[in-house]
Amino acid sequence: MKKIDSLFLWLDERLGIQSIFKMAKKKEVPLHRHSIWYYFGGMTLFLFTVQVATGILLLLYYRPSAEGAFESVQFIITEVQFGWLIRSVHSWSANLLIAALFIHMFSVYFMSAYRAPREITWITGALLLFISIGFGFSGYLLPWNKLAFFATKVGTEIAGVVPIIGHPILRFLRGGDEVTGATLTRFFGFHVAVLPAIATVLIGTHVLLVQMHGMSVPPKIEETEEPKTMKFVPNFLLRDLIGWILAVGVLAALAAIFPWELGEKADAFASAPAGIKPEWYFLFMFQTLKYLPAKIFALDGEVLGILGFGLGGLFWVLVPFLNKTPGHGRRKLVFNVIGIFIVVFIIVMTIVGYVSS
Ligand code: HEM
Repeated sequence: MKKIDSLFLWLDERLGIQSIFKMAKKKEVPLHRHSIWYYFGGMTLFLFTVQVATGILLLLYYRPSAEGAFESVQFIITEVQFGWLIRSVHSWSANLLIAALFIHMFSVYFMSAYRAPREITWITGALLLFISIGFGFSGYLLPWNKLAFFATKVGTEIAGVVPIIGHPILRFLRGGDEVTGATLTRFFGFHVAVLPAIATVLIGTHVLLVQMHGMSVPPKIEETEEPKTMKFVPNFLLRDLIGWILAVGVLAALAAIFPWELGEKADAFASAPAGIKPEWYFLFMFQTLKYLPAKIFALDGEVLGILGFGLGGLFWVLVPFLNKTPGHGRRKLVFNVIGIFIVVFIIVMTIVGYVSS
């Protein structure tokens, strides 16, 4: 027996590798006219691994303090070999990840893939949406530049508007009443320890559940078409791979053509830059809050807006329990209309937020 075979046998006896291979061989993916959407979960997963790999490399040089953060990022992009590329890929990939996640989330919503027994797959996914947004918000401050400083100031101020719990949340996020070096240290802790730990558990559970239940078929197709499938290994996986290679190409092109800017160092005493805006995935909420009148029925408009978004988030997490018989009758229509309204609202408000000063 060759050395490599005996090593395989040794490992198999201890880790049960064969059973994993057998499981992967048995896995099938439904084949129908909407199968293309099944690739976006894998794409999100791929971009997450890009984030972990580039994030670890950035950690080798990054310093999380108000005195050193900006200078350390400057060092990374000017002195460290390929440092500019790693930083740009990390930033661009974060944005592509959120875009892939939105496409994945809305596609599973419209395919009613959250219906029993996949409710917990949906809930872990919805929690991953909040965690991903948390990654974006905390990561944005880390270079400690002017734009990030004021965006964090405005973002945490919005959280602070909510009655009773708002101020404690603001103080918890900022590590005091103002955005200071303490906020930076805290955000660094969230970004590289707390959020990755939670994300790892959630992604592990999410993917394990997908493995357990298999991919779902949209109800209409289940009823009208003969079930056809494709082997996961190698057919689907190789197609996944093509998507990931394309993503690497897009990331490399974006990073080379549009390197991520650093701007000027944060200065708490400087005046806020005009027309300050958050990252694109917060824009729809930011713009909506801007449009709300100061008072709605004697209540503060901004507070009502924030509570509205909070309730919207809760509704989104609970969708599988609110629509127990998707794919049929009036409920299907109602939930499709709600989904289309949310997508159109997000797209329109994001564009308006982007073009308005
Ligand atoms: C970091 C974020 C996420 C990762 C890495 C991820 C990964 C995946 C993967 C690999 C699959 C299997 C392939 C597919 O159907 O696309 C999947 C399925 C699924 N995901 Fe996600 N996902 C994420 C976020 C979300 C979000 C935000 C939601 C919804 C709120 C969600 C809900 C679901 C559901 C319900 C399925 C089952 C689909 C089916 O059975 O047809 N996921 N996810």
